[in-house]
This record gives sequence, C-alpha cells and structure tokens, in this order.
Amino acid sequence: MPEAALLQIDNAERVFGGGRTLFGRRLPAVHAVQGISLDVKKGETLGVVGESGCGKSTLARLIVGLDRPTAGSITFDGRDLVAEARSDPQKLARRVQYVFQDPVASLNPRKTIRSILEAPLRHLLGLDKAARAARLKELMEAVNLAPEFLDRYPHEFSGGQAQRIGIARALAADPELIVLDEPVSALDVSVQAQVLNILDGLKARFGLTYVFISHDLSVVESVSDRVAVMYFGRIAEIGPAKQIFAEPRHPYTHLLLSSAPTPGKRSLIPEDANTELPDPYAPPPGCAFHARCPRGTDTCLAAHPPLEPAPGQPSHLTACYHPIEGAGHA
Ligand SMILES: Nc1ncnc2c1ncn2[C@@H]1O[C@H](COP(=O)(O)OP(=O)(O)OP(=O)(O)O)[C@@H](O)[C@H]1O
Ligand SMILES: [Mg+2]
Repeated sequence: MPEAALLQIDNAERVFGGGRTLFGRRLPAVHAVQGISLDVKKGETLGVVGESGCGKSTLARLIVGLDRPTAGSITFDGRDLVAEARSDPQKLARRVQYVFQDPVASLNPRKTIRSILEAPLRHLLGLDKAARAARLKELMEAVNLAPEFLDRYPHEFSGGQAQRIGIARALAADPELIVLDEPVSALDVSVQAQVLNILDGLKARFGLTYVFISHDLSVVESVSDRVAVMYFGRIAEIGPAKQIFAEPRHPYTHLLLSSAPTPGKRSLIPEDANTELPDPYAPPPGCAFHARCPRGTDTCLAAHPPLEPAPGQPSHLTACYHPIEGAGHA
C-alpha cells in the first residue's frame, strides 16, 4: 500500500473572468489551470516546472488556500482544504505556508523584520512575549541570519537575505507543507546555492514537505523527488525526477530539456517565439502543444490527451497521444 498523500489535488480548475458586464456583454475567460490532478507525499519535494503564464502561481495560490478552485477538489491530510481555507484560514496557515516569488516585494517595507516574523507567532501560534523572543532567535538561526538583523527594514537586505527572511516567515508557524514559488529565481547563482542549501537543511531538520515551483530546469532537477511539467494550465508530464530528466516522454518536456545552451548546464526555459504559449483567451482545441509539436497528428486536435502511465512505469504519467518511447533526450 503506498503511503497516503499529504496533499491531494483532484481535477482542479481555476478560471478567471468569464462573467458578464453590466450591459450583458460576455467577458473573456482564462483557464489559468485546468484538469490538474496530483498528490504530494509527506516528506517529498514535488518540483513544478513550466514557462511564464502556464499557471504555476495560480496552482500555488490554490494549494495554500489564498484562492479557490472553480472546479475540482484539494485535500490536505485527509481534509477538504478549500472548505478549511474558508472556515478557518488561520488553522490552515499553521500547516501550509507560502514563500513568494519576489523576496523584497513580499515583505512590508514599513515593518522591521522582527514585526514581520512576530506576526505569525502572535496571530497563528498565540505565543507570549518570552516564547516569541525564543522562537525569533531560533528562526533567524535556522536561515543563517544574525539576530541583529531583526531591527532592520526589508530595504536594508540583499535579495538573498530577503528571501531567507521570507523563508523564516513561512517557517514561523511550524508548518508541514511549504509552497515555494520561484524561491531562487530572483537571486544570483551563488546566492541561489546558499538558499537552496538552507531549504534542503530545513526540510530534513523539520520534516517538511515542499512544492517547489520554478522555471529553471537545473534547479528543479537538483531539488525534486518528483517533477510535474506544466504546459498552458495543465500537467503535460509528471513522475519521478530521474525518469522525467533521463527519459522525458512528452515532446514538450523533451523540447525544454534539449534547449540547453551550454553542454551540461540546463537553461532557463527560453522565452523566444519557439516556446510561446497559445493565446489564453482563445485556447486551441485538443492538445495545446499541438501547433509546435513535431509529433502532432489530427488525433491531437480532437480532444486533450489524458494523463496516462508509461509502460512499466506506473508513477510516470504523460498527457500525450504520441509520447516518446524509451529514448533519452538528445
Ligand atoms: N487574477 C487573475 N485574473 C485574470 N487572469 C489571471 C489572474 N491570475 C493569473 N491569471 C492568468 O492565468 C494564467 C496563469 O498565470 P500564473 O500567474 O499562474 O502563471 P505562472 O506560471 O505563475 O507565470 P510566471 O512564471 O510568469 O510567474 C495567465 O494567463 C495569467 O494571465
Ligand atoms: Mg508565477
């Protein structure tokens, strides 16, 4: 019997817009995410990779309860997360936390680090003054920042330090699951390594589970146990990181992995015309990747392909009618 999932998402969808104006004109709708089903086991890191606009942050916001799906369900530790986010958001925030993409912008510029970190201790955990002081010390130490920094303001920090404060804030409530939305994308490569090391250490020390979002394939490869590749609001491929990187089955994953500019180093997802997403207001019928897919046929135009397991690899699923069989990526 496989271990029960800590987080389970079933057929989640988030559509923005689509209502009517005062005069009855229909507003265009964007399916930011649709048909997303995945689970995250306790203690694992699920990497989520995909280019800008594919729905990563929308998915992250659904998981932490900052937004609600327009269809489908999300379960956390066996309970309905969407209902809990509505009825008791603080209770959910004690268990599920979010690290934002832009480290500096995510911190209130008018508050000291002390008051930023104290807020969750006070409001989520209800700690008294002495307990807060002890926990603040612990948090600063956990992210490798000197306690003197507590009385400074966010603009006094470098990007890497600000991101560590963002991580400390997420850790403050002692959560079980942390959704990290591009946690190192805004940082220099050397600082990225520091922050990734800290995240890795914290995970082991506090028994955390991560959903790690990035558009940087090399970062995702280095941190993930499993990887979900998103394309245009859907999962194109999901499976153990080793299988996804060594034997990508979806032509889109293959394209991402083979567009590395230098040998041995996998690039950021290129933002050229070759990988431009379709118009979200006028989605193509069938598989959204069809127009750029070297393997596309008329079958792909009829309906979106279901996520199906690879032969002999039950945990490696691909949404493609013509997956690449058995070949490593070039
Ligand atoms: N509040 C909103 N209202 C309308 N459309 C939205 C809203 N939030 C997101 N979208 C749309 O949903 C799609 C997915 O956006 P999302 O921010 O989730 O992408 P992303 O993968 O996080 O991109 P990035 O890598 O640039 O952060 C985009 O087409 C975006 O324009
Ligand atoms: Mg985003």
